[in-house]
Amino acid sequence: MKKIIYSLLALGFSFYAMAQGNNYVQDYTKYPGLALTPPMGWNSWNKFACNVDENMIKQMADAMVSTGMAAAGYQFINIDDCWHGDRDAQGFIQPDAKRFPSGMKALADYVHSKGLKLGIYSDAGSQTCGGRPGSRGYEFQDALTYASWGIDYLKYDWCNTEGLKAEGAYKTITAALKKAGRPIVLSICEWGNDKPWEWGQTVGHLWRTTGDITNCFDCIKDHGTWKAFGTMPILDKQEGLRQYAGPGHWNDPDMLEVGNGKLTPGEDRAHFTMWAMIAAPLIAGNDLRSMSKETTEVLTNKEVIALNQDKLGIQGLRVSAQDGLEVWAKPLSNGDWAISFLNRSDKPQKVNFDWTKQKVYDDINKIDASFTTTTYTIKNLWDKNDKGKATTKKTFNAEVPSHDIIALRLTKSSR
Ligand code: GLA
Repeated sequence: MKKIIYSLLALGFSFYAMAQGNNYVQDYTKYPGLALTPPMGWNSWNKFACNVDENMIKQMADAMVSTGMAAAGYQFINIDDCWHGDRDAQGFIQPDAKRFPSGMKALADYVHSKGLKLGIYSDAGSQTCGGRPGSRGYEFQDALTYASWGIDYLKYDWCNTEGLKAEGAYKTITAALKKAGRPIVLSICEWGNDKPWEWGQTVGHLWRTTGDITNCFDCIKDHGTWKAFGTMPILDKQEGLRQYAGPGHWNDPDMLEVGNGKLTPGEDRAHFTMWAMIAAPLIAGNDLRSMSKETTEVLTNKEVIALNQDKLGIQGLRVSAQDGLEVWAKPLSNGDWAISFLNRSDKPQKVNFDWTKQKVYDDINKIDASFTTTTYTIKNLWDKNDKGKATTKKTFNAEVPSHDIIALRLTKSSR
């Protein structure tokens, strides 16, 4: 009899728990429907490192609009490391009161009033890379705090994570963000150590594939315990990853160095175009308040941005590489293609591209350019005088300067 009573009680309790919703079950999947094309925005780290404050962030939001960046599609203003103050007595994180005296909610309101979104930064470990408080053990509290401030994007770093497993740590913060209920893009930043492309698709919206970028075209800087990579070594590290990218989940080869003064105009163009070709997030890392006309022209080239933002979300592929001249291709919607000629060598390179003799085939998505049977018109995206009259019936002849690029959009001519 006792047994029956206990069973009935247990059953009753289960029904009660079901009706209440089981608070102990977490949803470890990311907020859906975000970053359906690669995120576009600006981040403070590459240019300012720890030197962030609310006035500068507000000015950057103003500049994002006044320079035409917002109109070209850039949306996020992301504060990287070092915005943090201490945790309060209950453990809630506070911004640095000197640098952000008005608080993060006021800053988010300001950024939102410009039609933009605000991003913030934390770390899965005990401390951020810059030695500020990390989120370890405070994930749910931090997610609630960010949501209450109106944050739209979280870059979540991987310093001081001894003993943690990346997949579990990132699932914890994604569950916390999900519970907080605000659509927040989650940028996984564990430098590709634990192959985030293999587990990140349901967890975050983008994941870093490499260590940090550094401001050079083709160098590697060895800092002893870690290395930083120039634009070309980072590009090479994307090999074999294109199958993992798609709407809502992107390989992230790190933020842009365009306009940061060390790359030539041609190198800036090549870097930007290649990030567009490989469907990388386009997160500018320069001072938007004082950028040159040349830099603005690179960052706001709408036709190149359109390659990046194409709704198919296919990461481009390297078709060939010879003597430092690389041919890259990216399938686009409506049967269009992007084709780029990247010159990594120290001398100008001639291009004589006979389309009918070229096989351009995306073996992952099974898309064939079929140049022998299909004719395309050609638009040269960095040549302002190009009227888009050329077609793939004729060999494409051009010269690519050293450390520069030619980017073409091909459109089926029958349309
Ligand atoms: C790491 C990240 C960088 C930047 C710094 C901040 O190195 O990879 O992108 O966020 O931390 O300290």
